[in-house]
Amino acid sequence: MALVNENYLKLPGNYLFAEIARRVSQFKNNNPDADIIRLGIGDVTRPLPAAVIEAMKKGVEEMSREETFRGYGPEQGYSFLIEKIIENDFRPRGVELAGDEVFVSDGAKSDTANFQEILGSGNVVAVTDPVYPVYVDSNVMAGRTGSTDGGRFEGIVYLPCTEENGMKPSLPDKRVDMLYLCFPNNPTGMTLSKEELKKWVDYARENRTVILYDAAYEAYIREDGVPHSIYEVEGAKEVAVEFRSFSKTAGFTGTRCAYTVVPRDVKVYDSTGKAHSLNPLWLRRQTTKFNGVSYPVQAAAAGVFTEEGKRQVRELVDYYMENAGIIREGLTAAGYRLYGGVNAPYIWMKTPGSMGSWEFFDKLMKEAHVIGTPGAGFGASGEGYFRLTAFGSRENTLRAVERIKSRM
Ligand code: MLT
Repeated sequence: MALVNENYLKLPGNYLFAEIARRVSQFKNNNPDADIIRLGIGDVTRPLPAAVIEAMKKGVEEMSREETFRGYGPEQGYSFLIEKIIENDFRPRGVELAGDEVFVSDGAKSDTANFQEILGSGNVVAVTDPVYPVYVDSNVMAGRTGSTDGGRFEGIVYLPCTEENGMKPSLPDKRVDMLYLCFPNNPTGMTLSKEELKKWVDYARENRTVILYDAAYEAYIREDGVPHSIYEVEGAKEVAVEFRSFSKTAGFTGTRCAYTVVPRDVKVYDSTGKAHSLNPLWLRRQTTKFNGVSYPVQAAAAGVFTEEGKRQVRELVDYYMENAGIIREGLTAAGYRLYGGVNAPYIWMKTPGSMGSWEFFDKLMKEAHVIGTPGAGFGASGEGYFRLTAFGSRENTLRAVERIKSRM
């Protein structure tokens, strides 16, 4: 008799975005003429930059000739891409990394979900609340939690981000072993200054905590003083792993390419207290379970770092940030209380009155035909909030704001 991994039975029925898709498709079936505007899942809508397409085509072309054909690549990623990543994303910010500290992958979602696997099953995990559900769900699957009361899992330390603390979490009041931070934050769109982030790095150094830092939205930072990488903070290379993605930066949600930085100095401990570097453990995991990102896709990702590519990516990000501004201005003028959207493509709004977030989701879908993401889907502290993304087309963003103003 094959037994089930009972940890899976603790999870709510559907993954958040799958549940939203299910509700939208049901509504669409019942209302085939409804002109639905989707500002729910953070999925980009602009085409890939021309420099990326050109690099991808060249990569495909190379695969068609015997002299340039490539079979299995290095599981960790091709050095031509890793070198560009270090040279462009880190060195200008004063961060030096070795090539073997960067691991190219097919997505920050999979990396943030998989990384917990090389950490002890008895570790205490802390997350901000609201939080990107992947961090929690992957730890539930791994058995690091008890059951849920519907909003929170037993055994996880939740760090609330509320209006009272300006959506910025406080340090845990107990020792935690694994700490997930995402800045610019998904879903609140908020950021931490370098001084604020330093407190977390100091906490981790004092407590031998590993910080799992998701910086997938760093390209959206507009303000000075907001770190793009946790490694801009002194000491972070001893305690933090950083997840980055080409998805939101360069439109790769459907193309799939990301990378994770695992500095050699980040240590974890065995039961005798002996220290082990995380870097070779992640390499061991990846070389066993992952065969790398396809050559044309890595070639396309390298296209992001050409002069043309950098300019086109900036334009892409500017486009979405203009959408963020349109949502912020329009809804603020209509009386909504909003967070985010300044250094991030997400706008976190308080639902009107005391409406629950799923109730607001249904109402907005039915009356305005606009889809967002209910805050409660990101955790208990998200109840009473709603997330809109700036990743729609300009036209749809303008129409969605008008509909929310006039129909809600
Ligand atoms: C989101 O909407 O939160 C993101 O698109 C999810 C993801 O990147 O996996």
